[in-house]
Amino acid sequence: MKNKRTVQQLLKMKQEGEKIACLTAYDASFARLLDDAGVDLLLVGDSLGMVLHGRENTLEVTVNDIIYHTRQVSRGATRAMVVADMPFMSYTTPAQALGNAARMLSEGGAQMVKLEGGENAVEIVRHLSRFDIPVCGHLGLKPQSVNKYGGYRVQGREQEDAEQMVQDAVALQEAGAMLLVLECIPARLAAEISRTITIPTIGIGAGVECDGQILVLYDILGISMRSPHLARDFMEGRGTIRAAVDAYVAAVKNGTFPGAENSFD
Ligand code: KIV
Repeated sequence: MKNKRTVQQLLKMKQEGEKIACLTAYDASFARLLDDAGVDLLLVGDSLGMVLHGRENTLEVTVNDIIYHTRQVSRGATRAMVVADMPFMSYTTPAQALGNAARMLSEGGAQMVKLEGGENAVEIVRHLSRFDIPVCGHLGLKPQSVNKYGGYRVQGREQEDAEQMVQDAVALQEAGAMLLVLECIPARLAAEISRTITIPTIGIGAGVECDGQILVLYDILGISMRSPHLARDFMEGRGTIRAAVDAYVAAVKNGTFPGAENSFD
């Protein structure tokens, strides 16, 4: 058995105030490099539909796509936890979610699955947890709901939405979620959620007070087709990919990433 990061270690990191450094990864070579650089968690995100496949959004990504890339990442990662993203419409019922999540672990080699949703996802999270499949929730901007939002926008700015998000975070934790991604929400709301729940929060555009941070790998390398405000190009002024990843890990761990310029009010 490889010496992998466990959910218990991530929880201890939160309790001890050590920040959790996460990145997306889609293949074995990058997974190995990120793992060597001390990245704690590698997410095989459905962002691969955009950054690898050149799609406009994540909706066309399939369960087989995620399993294919998760298998590669699992081969490259010896220490980092590998988390597989559940694609759009792959977790609409408890039975469907269980079948697909089980494949992510057994065929892909993931240690955890991630899925988007608040109250509507609670039943699914409870079902997966009952079968000992660790789940990471995802609140705030949920890219799989892009057609409902009409674009990618900051969420939780209205008081009512913010209160709902805190309740959703608690409900997901009570249903058994072991980690929670918070995407594009005001930094003060992410800080409140991080204080309210005991499981670690992983922010992306959610301020520096989350328990960890995640970015899309290609965004930190300055090679994505977009350059989101919530990311930082860590290649700038550095000669190698390894140096850029080292700088990202150090910046997350010492709290200098994200800065105010990568966060929202
Ligand atoms: O798909 C993805 O890469 C993600 C992260 C950006 C959190 O969900």
